[in-house]
Amino acid sequence: MTWQPTKQELLQKTIEHIDMKDHNVVPVVEAMQHMAFSARDLSRAADIYDRMLRDTECGVILCLAGSLISAGLKQVIIDMVRNKMVDAIVSTGANMVDQDFFEALGFKHYVAEERLKSGMDDSMLRDHGIDRIYDTLIDEEELRVCDETTRKIADGLPPGAYTSRYFLNKMGEYLETNAKTDSIIGAAYQCGVPIFCPAFSDCSAGLGIVAHIHERLRTGRQPISFDSAMDFYELTQIKMNNPVTGLFMIGGGVPKNYAQDIVVAADILLQEEHGAHEYPAMHKYAVQITIADVRDGALSSSTLKEASSWGKVDTTFEQMVFSEATLALPLIAGYAYHKRGWEGRKFKRFADLFVEAGEIV
Ligand SMILES: NC(=O)c1ccc[n+]([C@@H]2O[C@H](COP(=O)([O-])OP(=O)(O)OC[C@H]3O[C@@H](n4cnc5c(N)ncnc54)[C@H](O)[C@@H]3O)[C@@H](O)[C@H]2O)c1
Repeated sequence: MTWQPTKQELLQKTIEHIDMKDHNVVPVVEAMQHMAFSARDLSRAADIYDRMLRDTECGVILCLAGSLISAGLKQVIIDMVRNKMVDAIVSTGANMVDQDFFEALGFKHYVAEERLKSGMDDSMLRDHGIDRIYDTLIDEEELRVCDETTRKIADGLPPGAYTSRYFLNKMGEYLETNAKTDSIIGAAYQCGVPIFCPAFSDCSAGLGIVAHIHERLRTGRQPISFDSAMDFYELTQIKMNNPVTGLFMIGGGVPKNYAQDIVVAADILLQEEHGAHEYPAMHKYAVQITIADVRDGALSSSTLKEASSWGKVDTTFEQMVFSEATLALPLIAGYAYHKRGWEGRKFKRFADLFVEAGEIV
């Protein structure tokens, strides 16, 4: 007999977000420093992240790639934002819009049955309008509501080019009155943590904006667009205003390079201003969690030592952790949370640097 579950049967068990506040991992992570391989790397990475937080001059930039929010890491990141453990975020659009904003609208991610991981039943999922991320399921109809909501926000803006940072701030404003649950976008809006999505069209926001552009052009009106160059300029302003920086990178991809490159961009801007190289400080601290394999020579896998050859990352406090993020992030962030180095910090409110910027037409 073939397996023919209903949509309701498939979307039963929700992904629950781990709460790092409930688990004091300090003894485990400290014990790992005397082990070998990934355990020792992870322990050192946790120590470096704790140092970043104790260095009150350091602006901490969190980079997010992969499917982290759908995987149960949302609460960890919300707690990092609310406890001054991060000052700016550079992310893929999927994490911020398709997953975080999506849940803020009241929707959930669901646990897929083990047999669904094989892919054999994907056409059955298609028939039900269910999307799969490895072992996680999403109701496509709910995702369409997310697309539609980003379109509504776009429709409310006058024609012009906007940074993703500005648009995500607008999404945070929207959530102030419409959120069903806590979210990273909402917490960042309240705590003055700017969020940048360099490839913002490559997610649910892109699907919303495509509909917005189509409608505006069809009716002879100017649409809005996203300005990723201005995003890069604004992110560089963080480095210009706060020379000591640290990167905490989860996964690789576009957010990793974009955040690393602000050192080079700041060098160019300083040369423009002063007529000579002034070499801004490289990122003083850097931790990356990734599963990528260094042998492909691609950005996601490139080591932080390699980044130092490009003048982007200092070599004293850097650590790669070759691990899947759902394992490593709760341990590294949980360690720093329970060590409480963040208590000595203030909110840097980098978002306030851009209060006047808003729209660029
Ligand atoms: N991931 C999704 O479900 C999804 C959905 C819609 C749109 N997108 C878009 O696709 C583009 C690329 O997205 P991406 O970030 O998913 O893929 P990516 O392939 O760019 O990820 C970059 C690298 O990060 C590392 N990585 C990813 N997840 C990891 C994990 N859990 N643990 C450790 N390392 C990990 C891997 O080395 C990977 O090569 C973005 O523009 C995004 O908005 C993604």
